[in-house]
Amino acid sequence: MKTEIIEINALKRAGEIIRAGGLVAFPTETVYGLGADALNGAAVKKIFEAKGRPSDNPLIVHIADKNQIPLLAREMNAAAKKLIDAFMPGPFTIILKKQGNIPDEVTAGLDTVGIRFPSEKTAAEFIAAAKTPIAAPSANISGRPSPTRAEDVIFDMDGRIDAVINGGACGVGVESTIVDASGPVPVLLRPGGISLEELQSVVPETIADKNIMQTVSENEKPRCPGMKYRHYAPKARVVVVEGEKEPVQKKIRELLEENKDKIAGVLTMYGNVYDSAVMICGGATNTEYAKNLFAALRDFDKLGADIVFAEFNENDGCGAAVKNRLYKAAAHNIIRCCAK
Ligand code: TXA
Ligand code: MG
Repeated sequence: MKTEIIEINALKRAGEIIRAGGLVAFPTETVYGLGADALNGAAVKKIFEAKGRPSDNPLIVHIADKNQIPLLAREMNAAAKKLIDAFMPGPFTIILKKQGNIPDEVTAGLDTVGIRFPSEKTAAEFIAAAKTPIAAPSANISGRPSPTRAEDVIFDMDGRIDAVINGGACGVGVESTIVDASGPVPVLLRPGGISLEELQSVVPETIADKNIMQTVSENEKPRCPGMKYRHYAPKARVVVVEGEKEPVQKKIRELLEENKDKIAGVLTMYGNVYDSAVMICGGATNTEYAKNLFAALRDFDKLGADIVFAEFNENDGCGAAVKNRLYKAAAHNIIRCCAK
């Protein structure tokens, strides 16, 4: 199968592919998604095959109109309503009790469904053109960094999917904030562009799941099935070097000296300069860092880096989302630097 590249002025064609049971990758404000008709179980199954995704990991359903929510969810309590009013459309996914018409392939047999209304104009127009809700995970091969550029989708998926919509770079850069609002108290399952503090400003009782920052153990059944799987891993080994500017710089210089025999990369946040390394700028704030992180991890691979040191400091609202992705990419290999 040859993967077609669809420009953003030809979304009608993308809608036709979806209605014929095909797969189309599309840009959203968070990352690129790999979409199929959410009401067509056979089409949804192809997503799992194309990505190499375990079938027990459910998909999020994307909509372009809040009126579609009751068609997908059978219950919505007052907290869920408040969250929907405040954060949809946007980089936000809500988990609700599902309606019976959603195929089991989408929800991996769970009684709940994740619903997301992207704010990105191309995403909303594509979903509207498809005239059906779109089931979509991130458009990467399972385990690799999520794609934030059409070229990253092509790199992973060329020949495996029908088409990709060429919509440029994603604005947020990390996946949506996921909140399970199917029970009495909303629970944050994945940090993203919307912080826990922002969620709590709308529903103060909102809590964070304990598994957000730790590795899920073998026998545990996490509330968010995706938490079990290793994520965002580039080929290079990633080491997070966390702290203030000067100690981080000192430590990375030492590490570069120790790793002279390897091709080393540094993902920078402070504008520090390192002589013997390939440098990519993550950004001066965590909002910028989020936008650039996945693309940078992929670019280090293309440059042949064996090891990547990532400068990091969790100093603003988006910091929790970056930390979650970066720690996973580094398989929790973290060096914390103190001022002295
Ligand atoms: O920003 C995003 O959310 C992107 C774009 C394309 O919308 N999508 C995305 O999908 O990141 P994916 O499949 O890569 O991550 C979805 C996560 C998975 O960890 C999955 O286990 C979890 O959401 N999930 C989906 N449905 C769920 C449900 N009913 N209950 C709990 N977790 C669920
Ligand atoms: Mg994913």
